[in-house]
Amino acid sequence: MSIPHGIRTLGVLGAGQMGLGIAFVSSLRAKVPVLLHDRSPEQIAKGLSLMDKLLAKDVAKGRITADDAKDARGRVTVVGPEAGLQGLRDVDMVVEAVSESLPLKQSIFGSFAAELRPDAILASNTSSISITKIATAAVPKGVSPASEEGKKSAGRVVGLHFFNPVPVMKLVELISALQTTPETLDRARSFAVACGKEVTTSKDVPGFVSNALLMPFINEAIMCLEKGTATRDDIDTTLKLGMNHPMGPLQLADFIGLDTCLAIQQTLYEGTRDSKYRPSVLLERMVDAQWYGRKNGKGFYEYKE
Ligand code: 3HC
Repeated sequence: MSIPHGIRTLGVLGAGQMGLGIAFVSSLRAKVPVLLHDRSPEQIAKGLSLMDKLLAKDVAKGRITADDAKDARGRVTVVGPEAGLQGLRDVDMVVEAVSESLPLKQSIFGSFAAELRPDAILASNTSSISITKIATAAVPKGVSPASEEGKKSAGRVVGLHFFNPVPVMKLVELISALQTTPETLDRARSFAVACGKEVTTSKDVPGFVSNALLMPFINEAIMCLEKGTATRDDIDTTLKLGMNHPMGPLQLADFIGLDTCLAIQQTLYEGTRDSKYRPSVLLERMVDAQWYGRKNGKGFYEYKE
């Protein structure tokens, strides 16, 4: 049976909270075999254990059968550190979900261009970094970005921005680089739909639509705390009960990760040169203190394992 996105095998790079979630919905909902790669065996073990828990919960709640869960888990294969990106060489699409660093993503997309099939779609789950810059990094060394080969290589790069927690959040934001071809966009969109997501599209501007709106909101809440306008709990309760947000902005910042929030805000600030995006000093200091939020137990709140 032909499938509109044509993805018979997906690679996911990064088994953190986003990568694991992407592997989960791809395998359970789109029913696509997934090769999950991470440099850290501990991260992979943690991710797989979370996946087992999520599948068991869906079975317990009667949403899927035990066989569905077994099949979904069976579709996920780990590609360990020893195999490197070579282990993903036969995938039809890869989704990169590593931390928010342009040099890191540029190096990864350079390696994708060298190691993966020339027709594979190369997607980034970046929250804010320019997809156009990432696409340029996918042009093989020695090839002109303006040549047919250069345009073809960069044209298969796309932004596929999932939201945390991926199994729960219904949205995927699709971002086209200047170089992305319409075919790449269409296939990436159909893949996100097959994962059970609604898709919105955004131009390749810093933060896209989602984080260009969310991050100033979170930053303003941190500045309220910094200025002593209200307590942490009053800021969060105001937004939760006054506006029906599922989490207050400080709680949400912890949930996303304070280091990630800061990295996104820096991209917004540097990319727009607009002072309205300047990260708050308190956020910078908390990241200096390595208080990253829920992921390491301390942010605006304290978390037990
Ligand atoms: N992974 C998978 N599932 C999770 C989860 C996780 N980390 N955390 C919670 N869930 C599931 C629970 O298992 C539960 O599922 P169920 O309905 O099958 O039982 C469901 O979510 C609801 O969980 P709870 O009942 O425990 O708690 P809540 O009702 O408080 O919901 C929440 C938790 C879904 C996280 C909710 O608080 C929420 O929607 N918060 C806002 C999340 C948000 O805004 N995310 C976007 C962040 S921005 C982003 O990702 C973009 C990036 O670029 C920064």
